[in-house]
Amino acid sequence: MIEYRNLRVAILGGGSVGAQVASLLIQHGDELAARAGAGLEVVGVAVRNLDAERSADIPKHLLTTDVESLILGADIVVELIGGIEPARTWILQALNSGADVITANKALLATHGPELFELAGQVGAQLYYEAAVGGAIPIIRPLRDSLAGDRVKRILGIVNGTTNYILDRMDTRGDSLDEALAAATALGYAEADPTADIEGFDAAQKAAILASLAFHTTVPLDLVYREGMSSITLDQVVAARKAGYVVKLLAICERLTDQNGVDGVSVRVHPALIPRDHPLAAVHGANNAVFVEAEAAGSLMFYGAGAGGVQTASAVLGDIVSAARRHVAGGPGVAESTHSDLPVLPISSVTTRYQITLTVVDQPGVLAGIASLFAEHGVSVEAVTQSVGTVSIRDGHDDAKPTATLVIVTHEATESSLALTVGALTDSPVVSSLVSVLRVEGLH
Ligand code: HSE
Repeated sequence: MIEYRNLRVAILGGGSVGAQVASLLIQHGDELAARAGAGLEVVGVAVRNLDAERSADIPKHLLTTDVESLILGADIVVELIGGIEPARTWILQALNSGADVITANKALLATHGPELFELAGQVGAQLYYEAAVGGAIPIIRPLRDSLAGDRVKRILGIVNGTTNYILDRMDTRGDSLDEALAAATALGYAEADPTADIEGFDAAQKAAILASLAFHTTVPLDLVYREGMSSITLDQVVAARKAGYVVKLLAICERLTDQNGVDGVSVRVHPALIPRDHPLAAVHGANNAVFVEAEAAGSLMFYGAGAGGVQTASAVLGDIVSAARRHVAGGPGVAESTHSDLPVLPISSVTTRYQITLTVVDQPGVLAGIASLFAEHGVSVEAVTQSVGTVSIRDGHDDAKPTATLVIVTHEATESSLALTVGALTDSPVVSSLVSVLRVEGLH
């Protein structure tokens, strides 16, 4: 029997992930010790309420409310309480005491990542966070290690399961947004206050983390452009299906050169159309997927459960084993790589394609007039589909006028040109309503 050195693991948080991590670490201790080359002893699980129900069995004697003593005696501290404070203070304490830290805390990493990585670097500790993005999906380690020799050009991610579940129900079952949200709430995907998911805040935090890692550049959360999906209607989803697209809430991180020749990165979260034959279109339910385009590797997709206690625990346990291996091997941890230090460019620098749906007065010259508004702002039209005479409008006079619905898909254009075009369309007397403007991604 091999005698392993023992490493003391402290878990902060006994919620759905924390309880599973503790329970699996205890159940599979021998196997994980053999993989890590060190014994992994759970020395305590810090909780707020010692008597609360747990989603997995944790021996009662391991539960404690004395977080600071638990941290001080640990080799590896696993932070699973979420939020900014006290998580930040406790992680700083753990690093300062010489422990390696594992966290699933996307909000903290997206807002205070540089502070935490700097301290980890100074003290020679490791800070691992595989579970912070995409739950069970291995994406942090592939970006940090497997693709360290390549250059990532773009990431398209479905990184929020709640919104994917809602949009998928709208697409596949014809639910309204409210019906689909009610179903997501009933299943426990959506919180009582679903704002963080629906308005894209959760996805923006994950996008900042992915972009920082992929582009070796610190991406502050406040430079991530964000639009939620609360204005997406069933009509838009149905029209997208007819046109061969599906609506997804995407996190898009890309390298780009702006109109002035400045190289930088752009990070954005918004609903977008993707072609139904794109691999991301096949991501159903509450699953997540991250589609990575790298210069040499080409396209890669990482897919799986983006949340869930036991699924997320899998990613945390992988980090614990990695941290333990480094304890055994010795040497400093892997420092965060921000050497590229690229500027984060504003949304106006982004170039993409758009689908614009308008109702217009159906009379000679209208289509030519609309086309000229696109041309005047340097936006090239790729395709126009027209359906005629479905509604009638009145323009203030008594006579009803026939209208047509135009669906216009553009070639690549800058956000700034598109915004000017949309402004001109809105002001045009022949446009009776601007039904929808959606970006089209995944066609490159
Ligand atoms: N609320 C998130 C989601 C899971 O719906 O994907 C945690 O990041």
